[in-house]
Amino acid sequence: MLAGLLSVCGLAPAAPPDPGHPPRPSSAVNFGADVIYHIVTDRFVDGDRTNNPAPPQFSADCQLTDLYCGGDWAGIVQVIRGGYFKDLGITALLISVPYENTMALFDETRSSYHGYWPRDMKRTNPAFGSFADFRQLVDVAHQHGLKLMIDVITNQGSPGLDGRPDHGDGGALYDDGKLIDSFATDSQGLFNHHSQSDYSSLEDMVYRSLYDLADLNQQHPVIDRYLKEMIRLWLDTGIDGLRVDTVKHVPLGWQRTWMETIYRHRPVFTAGEWYTGRDEVNPQSFLFANESGMSVLDFPMSQRLRQVFRYLEKDMLALDQTVADTARAYRRPIDQVTFIDNHDMARISLSNSAEHHRLVEQGLAFVLTSRGVPMIFYGTEHYTVGQGHAPINRPMMRSFDRFTPAFRLISRLAELRRSNPAIQYGSQIKRWVNADAYVYERRFAGNSVLVAINRHAKQAVQVSEASTSLACADGQAKRYDDLLAQRFGGSPIMVDCSGGIAPFTLSPGAIAVWAMRDERSEGAPALGHLGPPMAWPGTELTLSGVHFGSRPGVVWIGDSLVQAADVLSWGDTQIRLRLPALPAGRPEVRVGRSGQLSDPLAGLEVLGRSLVSLRVVIDEAKVAPGEAVYIESRPEDAHCNAAPQIWGPMYDQVVHRHPSRYFDISVAAGCRIGLRFFKKQADQAAPTWALGDAHVVSTPAGGTATTRLTLQGWNSREPSASGHD
Ligand code: NOJ
Ligand code: CA
Repeated sequence: MLAGLLSVCGLAPAAPPDPGHPPRPSSAVNFGADVIYHIVTDRFVDGDRTNNPAPPQFSADCQLTDLYCGGDWAGIVQVIRGGYFKDLGITALLISVPYENTMALFDETRSSYHGYWPRDMKRTNPAFGSFADFRQLVDVAHQHGLKLMIDVITNQGSPGLDGRPDHGDGGALYDDGKLIDSFATDSQGLFNHHSQSDYSSLEDMVYRSLYDLADLNQQHPVIDRYLKEMIRLWLDTGIDGLRVDTVKHVPLGWQRTWMETIYRHRPVFTAGEWYTGRDEVNPQSFLFANESGMSVLDFPMSQRLRQVFRYLEKDMLALDQTVADTARAYRRPIDQVTFIDNHDMARISLSNSAEHHRLVEQGLAFVLTSRGVPMIFYGTEHYTVGQGHAPINRPMMRSFDRFTPAFRLISRLAELRRSNPAIQYGSQIKRWVNADAYVYERRFAGNSVLVAINRHAKQAVQVSEASTSLACADGQAKRYDDLLAQRFGGSPIMVDCSGGIAPFTLSPGAIAVWAMRDERSEGAPALGHLGPPMAWPGTELTLSGVHFGSRPGVVWIGDSLVQAADVLSWGDTQIRLRLPALPAGRPEVRVGRSGQLSDPLAGLEVLGRSLVSLRVVIDEAKVAPGEAVYIESRPEDAHCNAAPQIWGPMYDQVVHRHPSRYFDISVAAGCRIGLRFFKKQADQAAPTWALGDAHVVSTPAGGTATTRLTLQGWNSREPSASGHD
């Protein structure tokens, strides 16, 4: 129970923004007010010809679309300085992987222009610029109110084949210029050598190579350390966010330990790429979004949007279903990154017809006003057409035209996102739907945004008996004008005092947006966002919302009141605090002031101790058909302060094979951890068999460990937790 509200005294309100540096619209862990612009660095602007690779790596006219085309960080700096992103309403940039890549060519035509073939993760790709150029990009971005996100990789090095040092660089991996080893010769087990993945299972994807890229063994202490040092180095440049490539191909347990490195060092918004295909509903992708400590690129939503607005193979009812399903599936729906196209998909624009342009605009309007953090692929504001996949969909940026309807739409809705908390934090409610038209509302603490889209190019839709939380005025029905100034076929609506919208016509192809902003300076505190989603004692936590007041109030985390000394700053819309020592778990957070308490907000995982990645191997683990083996990890020592967790099903096909089983889990460091094993039919909740006694493992203070157990007599054995496979 929460006791009475105590006031935290003696704290200064948040410092006023430095006039020389326009304030970034929100913190580095909260992207709720942001719109991300996704750039393929090599395909944007060639700002420095001197760093272009020489032929045969380079295609001056970009006709050879698998070669380098010259784009670099200097080019992005030019565009920032020219005000293009400001006019478009963009507040965050995502750029290609910045690491040095192999300069080997494959099939005489395929180069590393995309950045996904790293050879030295601690050095820059010279075709994009030096570290000085990169720091300049960060600085210029910040001076112009832009956050900078980079794409990063932990899964792989460059192309490598077993026993083939002559294939490219042999998958060689360097540590700031010093060779660590190469995939082809690998004497230390730094890489997984289990041939290419056929994508048949998660295990296959995690432990086999993606294409023929040197698959890193994150469980090896050298690779574990390298990947954690590497990310600290990039965080130290001042970046604000990360896209993490191919997270599906890296063990979840290890990735939790890597997220700890980020959140302890410099917390930034992080979204992993867990690819799912059209109509694929993969519970593992949601589990990852909820358990890894990072957000995801919201492929389930993206694929559905493309089905609705590109392929026209699903209708608005299906889109509404996806909104509802993902609201349940994600623990933090507003933190997932939404998009309608990217560098791995055919571009959203199918043709240059007005009809297709309108569908692109509708897809954009949806992501810009819906829950999640919208991301726009470079060139989509100009309806760049790209029927095929990479590299056809990655042409050189062709135009910086600021007058297309899509450009203006993005600019207007980005402004709405920055200014209306309903879009930043609100729940998403269906108000009216049929096969072609969708009316939905975002709502948060007295703020509302109502959106209507009619996908049908020729037929108008009559909307009647729809309700809204837009308010009437002075006891009379109130008129709301379309915020898009009727440029996209919208019209005003009338809202009565019972929340009814007078019947209205949604013209063919219409997009309309109506909004209400709560202008009161005082009100009950409402907490909309917290980040980072994983925190340890001492981690800086940022709470965002409205009506926190300019003078410090109180913050409750679960049943614990945060002490004044742990509150770093307090502003009306943002509070920064240091997480005190609390019981590990998933407590809800509330903000209080003047005797009023916000609704509780979930989404925080409190960890008591550092995490280590532990590979658990069991031998002779036979099961009945259809059965799988799971692990429960639970600390044995009270001082360990870690929550119990279930892991599995354990794998048995790649690194170790049936009847041995293995799984990489994250557990508290420097603790005695009890491991209990149970068997379960995949489709049933109740275990078919459980081992009562725990196997107790002593974990190291950091890094990785492996424990190997046999079924016979394992009750009495305490295995050592050292070494690696
Ligand atoms: C996903 C990236 O988006 C894709 O472009 C890349 O080829 C693979 N990961 C491998 O890094
Ligand atoms: Ca260049």
